Amino acid sequence: MTQTENVPVAAPTDQPPLLSARHVTMRFGGLVAVDNVDFDVYPGEIMGLIGPNGAGKTTFFNCLTGLYRPTSGRVMFNGATLPPKPGKVVRAGVARTFQNIRLFANMTALENVMVARYCRTSSGPLTSILRGPKFRREERQTRARAEELLDFVGLPEAADSLARNLPYGDQRRLEIARALATDPKLLLLDEPTAGMNPQETRQAEELILKIRDQGLAVITIEHDMRFIFNLCDRVLCLVQGRSLALGTPDEVQSDPRVIEAYIGTGPETEPGSDVGSDVGSDVGSTGGREEDADA
Ligand SMILES: Nc1ncnc2c1ncn2[C@@H]1O[C@H](COP(=O)(O)OP(=O)(O)O)[C@@H](O)[C@H]1O
Ligand SMILES: [Mg+2]
Repeated sequence: MTQTENVPVAAPTDQPPLLSARHVTMRFGGLVAVDNVDFDVYPGEIMGLIGPNGAGKTTFFNCLTGLYRPTSGRVMFNGATLPPKPGKVVRAGVARTFQNIRLFANMTALENVMVARYCRTSSGPLTSILRGPKFRREERQTRARAEELLDFVGLPEAADSLARNLPYGDQRRLEIARALATDPKLLLLDEPTAGMNPQETRQAEELILKIRDQGLAVITIEHDMRFIFNLCDRVLCLVQGRSLALGTPDEVQSDPRVIEAYIGTGPETEPGSDVGSDVGSDVGSTGGREEDADA
């Protein structure tokens, strides 16, 4: 069932959605970057978000993570309106990674994960300064959890390496470990495989499946169509801020509007012709080196 614009897709489970976006619109002056988007994500679901460069994907993520307050519309998470501040959104259970990696370059991998964990520890500033027994106990637990997470994302050897010295693919995995340290229910990944080689991309796929198996829901933006259609339960395609198609990978992949949005309709690609299987497998990839719209 391919969706027409802004028609919510039928619930894939009988559970209520974890996240619901209704009529979410984000304007920058005269530009409508996200235009009246409806979107639900259910517990344990892997959702893909695709669309050409400038389609509004990152802006939509920013609306779902409290970085932007939508110009209109609303976002519900876990039955409540999403709090309007990134810190509160993280504490509510939503974590993300960025299109441009944002790590503390001069901290070790372990420290990067430990820092993220502090949103879940109770030590206030005074406890931290006095470094009493409660602080030391929490510090030990934080370190143990951070080590566990480095192991989980496949970086057990990287704990003491400075983030900036890690290979690119490892930095992306470290960002995921750092997001997981906040104990999210929903993880948003903005181009998690940008700049990765095919082997790293496969490892990232496996990691995302493993994350879902822990009970998390995942939304991933990606230009690599093979990655999206292998991995995702459902896919939303945004074009010029609007929801163009929403459905299973098969539905979206064979939707002529999606094909047209990606490759245009040249003389050799008639609308509706069966070119869905190679909807440009890496069309428009930024390779992770393009400036983040939210930077
Ligand atoms: N902070 C901003 N101020 C003004 N325009 C923005 C801002 N962020 C994004 N845009 C514009 O909104 C549109 C969508 O951008 P973006 O969400 O980054 O797209 P995508 O992630 O799909 O490539 C683009 O035209 C971009 O230039
Ligand atoms: Mg983007």
